[in-house]
Formats: sequence, structure tokens, C-alpha cells
Amino acid sequence: MRALDPSENEVAMDWGLANRMARMFSPGSQNSVMLAVDHGYFMGPTRRLENPRATIAPLLPHADALALTRGILRTCVPPSTRTPIVLRVSGGVTVLQEDLSDEDITVSIEDAVRLNVSAVALSVFVGSPHEHSSLVHLSELVDQGEGAGMPVLAITAVGKELEKRDARYLALACRVSAELGAHMVKTYYCDDFEKVVEGCPVPIVVAGGPRLDSDQAALELAHNAIALGAKGIDMGRNIWQSDYPVAMLKALRSIVHEQATVGEAMDILNEEKARPPRATVA
Ligand code: 5RP
Repeated sequence: MRALDPSENEVAMDWGLANRMARMFSPGSQNSVMLAVDHGYFMGPTRRLENPRATIAPLLPHADALALTRGILRTCVPPSTRTPIVLRVSGGVTVLQEDLSDEDITVSIEDAVRLNVSAVALSVFVGSPHEHSSLVHLSELVDQGEGAGMPVLAITAVGKELEKRDARYLALACRVSAELGAHMVKTYYCDDFEKVVEGCPVPIVVAGGPRLDSDQAALELAHNAIALGAKGIDMGRNIWQSDYPVAMLKALRSIVHEQATVGEAMDILNEEKARPPRATVA
């Protein structure tokens, strides 16, 4: 199996669901650059996301979709935005707990529709103490999503066990998510990533994880993921914890949409860095 173009899936989708999917993926490349700013729902005011409105404002025009919670959507994003929204609808536990897998569904599908979002997202915790409930939540959300024309993004969460991010585990988690009906899966890049893609018949987007050693390392991660079949990125900390977040986002766009090499993306990053800084919106 290989990851299908999101558009290829349209035949199996209701029009509304297919339309919402299409909003998030570029008609040209069929890929997506999603900006993740949902970390506060369990991490609190994370570094450089302390003021979400200020972090989001300069980045919003450059993202194909914005992934966040309803509280931050309602308070920090102008309703006039044209950027599609991926709404996190799972939560209920914070970093103060050892086990992060005890999540529930925290937003109704009616509110997601009312907020006019393009997809809903929840974490699935394969191999964790609450594996069963997270997978049942996914299945229930897919039922509701199919009824409302709302795509569901399953996030293969690893909690605090970052060492779980290997191909064997992630291929299992992605495949189980797709089997239960997820329309897209967010996972991590790993060695042998092609095996994760091969076993997952729905589009995969990759998270960045904690801040890497350099901007170049994050560009390399995105490049490798796209080269091996990811349909996009859904990245947070490696963008907005960079000293040059807008430049990073533009460089990542060149990789995701224009098949830029890491060297070409670094050139874009460095050109953008050289521009005089613009005033940020508070
Ligand atoms: C938080 C998430 C994040 O959206 C996801 O991990 C992407 O962000 P980052 O690139 O910072 O890892 O799901 O639970």
C-alpha cells in the first residue's frame, strides 16, 4: 500500500468531507504545511507560545492549515482568517501526570461544525495504558465526522516515551488509525519511514517533535519525510521556537510544495533572515 493523494480519496468521501480535505492540501503539490500551536492543551504556556496571538499572527498567512484548540481559536485567531483550521478535540490530562494517555473527547462535533473548522484531531495512544479508550474515541469521532462531513486526523501520540518513535511502532499506530477510519494521520519521522507510509492508506503528515539542534535539522527532517511519501508536515516547536519562525515556515513550504532540496530551503531561510524584521502584532 502507499499513501494516496488526498484527492484520490475523494471518490470514497462525501462531498463536504472531500471539500474540507481539499481546503488543507494545495491543489498543486497535493501536500500541506500545517502549523501546530495546540501544545498548551497539556503543556501550558510553552516557550515562545506563551502569547499564542503574537506567535500565530505573523505565521498565519504562510500556513495551509492551523492546528489548535477551540479556546485559542476563539481568543487568538481573527474570524476573518482564510486559513483552514484543524481543531484538537482530545485532552483532559497535563504534563503534571506521568501517564499522558488518559484523554477524552473534549469538543462536540456540533461545536466543531459551528466553528467552521476543516478537520478535527485527537491523539491515539497505541501501547499505552489508555490505548483502548483512545482507539474507541477515534472510532466514535470518525462516526460523527462521517455524519457531519468532517475529516478526522489521528495523532499517533507517544506521551513522554519519545523512544517509541521507531518504524515498527509508528507503522502499527498509523495503520490501526487508518483501519479505524481516520482520514489523515499525524506521526513522527523515523528511520525506515517508508515502511510507515507503505502500510498506511491515508495521507500522513509529520510532526517535528521537540526543538532539534538547528533549523537545518528540521528542514532535513521535513525533506526526508516528503521524499519518502509524507503528504505534508504538521509542525510546531521547530517553527515557532526558531529565532526566525516566518523564514522557517517559508523554507519548509519550499520543501513541501516545490520539492526544494535542503540546500535550496536553507538559501530561502538565509535570505529571509537577512530581511529587516517586521513589527509583530501583539
Ligand atoms: C501536541 C501535538 C503537536 O501538534 C505535534 O506534536 C506537532 O508539534 P511539534 O512539531 O512541536 O511536535 O500534537 O500534542
